[in-house]
Amino acid sequence: MRMVDLIAKKRDGHELSKQEINFIIEGYTSKGIPDYQMSAFSMAIFFQGMTKNERVYLTDAMVKSGDVIDLSEIDGIKVDKHSTGGVGDTTTLVLAPLVAAVGVPVAKMSGRGLGHTGGTIDKLESVPGFHVELNNEEFVRLVNENKIAVIGQSANLTPADKNLYGLRDVTATVDSIPLIASSIMSKKIAAGADAIVLDVKTGDGAFMKNLDDASDLAEAMVDIGNGVGRKTMAIISDMSQPLGFAIGNSLEVKEAIDTLVGKGPADLHELCLTLGSYMVTLAGKANDINEARKMLEDVMESGKALEVFKTFLSSQGGDASVIDDPTQLPTAKYKVEVLAKRAGYISKITASQIGTAAMLLGAGRKTKESTIDLAVGLVLKKKIGDHVDNNESLVTIHSNSKDVDEVIRLIQDAYSIVDEQVETPALIYKEVV
Ligand code: URA
Ligand code: CA
Repeated sequence: MRMVDLIAKKRDGHELSKQEINFIIEGYTSKGIPDYQMSAFSMAIFFQGMTKNERVYLTDAMVKSGDVIDLSEIDGIKVDKHSTGGVGDTTTLVLAPLVAAVGVPVAKMSGRGLGHTGGTIDKLESVPGFHVELNNEEFVRLVNENKIAVIGQSANLTPADKNLYGLRDVTATVDSIPLIASSIMSKKIAAGADAIVLDVKTGDGAFMKNLDDASDLAEAMVDIGNGVGRKTMAIISDMSQPLGFAIGNSLEVKEAIDTLVGKGPADLHELCLTLGSYMVTLAGKANDINEARKMLEDVMESGKALEVFKTFLSSQGGDASVIDDPTQLPTAKYKVEVLAKRAGYISKITASQIGTAAMLLGAGRKTKESTIDLAVGLVLKKKIGDHVDNNESLVTIHSNSKDVDEVIRLIQDAYSIVDEQVETPALIYKEVV
């Protein structure tokens, strides 16, 4: 087989076989196939797309390019959740202890990554002492004992995807549904999940700006997951405005604590119950999503979900007393209110701009080398549909620097205020099974 012939085959719109796709991914991983041929191949996929079979083969080949995590020592059906990312998405912090509290094993491999805020691990590190440096035996033991543990990402997970994603980033081939879908799914599958619930976001703050693209991506991922034998389903949820109120690491931990006892922001609360219900059902702990939802509401109300969160944190070295006293979490020096310049109803909150504002404060990483300030971030006081008076606060800035003029400007610009009443946007557009 020659790579040049396979590029031509894809360029001309023909379907590649499993052997051909394995040849490409194995060759690329072992550096036998150079970046320039892989770039041309990615561009051919960008224009020609991939069939359902090709997507499954590509994902499977990328999974096998590195470590595949074996969770078979953990009792029960391991369900993972993946969100395509947005602004202030606090769901993982809530969902992991929430579903663990009803007996679903949560064996989570998580990362740091770039973004408006840190990743799940950064957020959890707001809790003094918490760490994710566990060996495999400890990880398995903790999940079996507590139903929940989080471990750092293995360095050798899907190296083919790591290299290809980097290459796509500089060759204008990121925006391809088959490539995005196989990239995301390869990582989830290599991390060992038996079943996967996907939260595909749509709107200004998301990767997929409109519902059609989000639906295509969701369908592509669900087909791949089921195609490789992992039960997979997706919902499409709104990211036209940030989720919940808090954007920032320790601020989101505090928001997660509130949500775990049923006192969180309405949208975050509802999204966690929806995603959680699917996870519990896929794990075989409930007969249907209504029963699952009731179980989750019960553990919120009884305090069991919060207890599980505490046990989880202290099992990984964290000082769980901060859960009862969140003032012990990292706290910023200054609080500055961003005031509305007129009265009216909030019609729009440009999520991407709010994300940039949080990043400017230091809540997220611009580059891999940046350090995160766990204390800083934003707390939204008003969401779409809310009424605001002139000079009333829209957002509280939590900052460690006095100079927040640029942040204030970005936030005021992100908010649109109109005279007529505005409806709250839908939170969940549809499900894809
Ligand atoms: N996220 C990923 O992990 N891969 C993509 O290709 C795009 C977004
Ligand atoms: Ca939030």
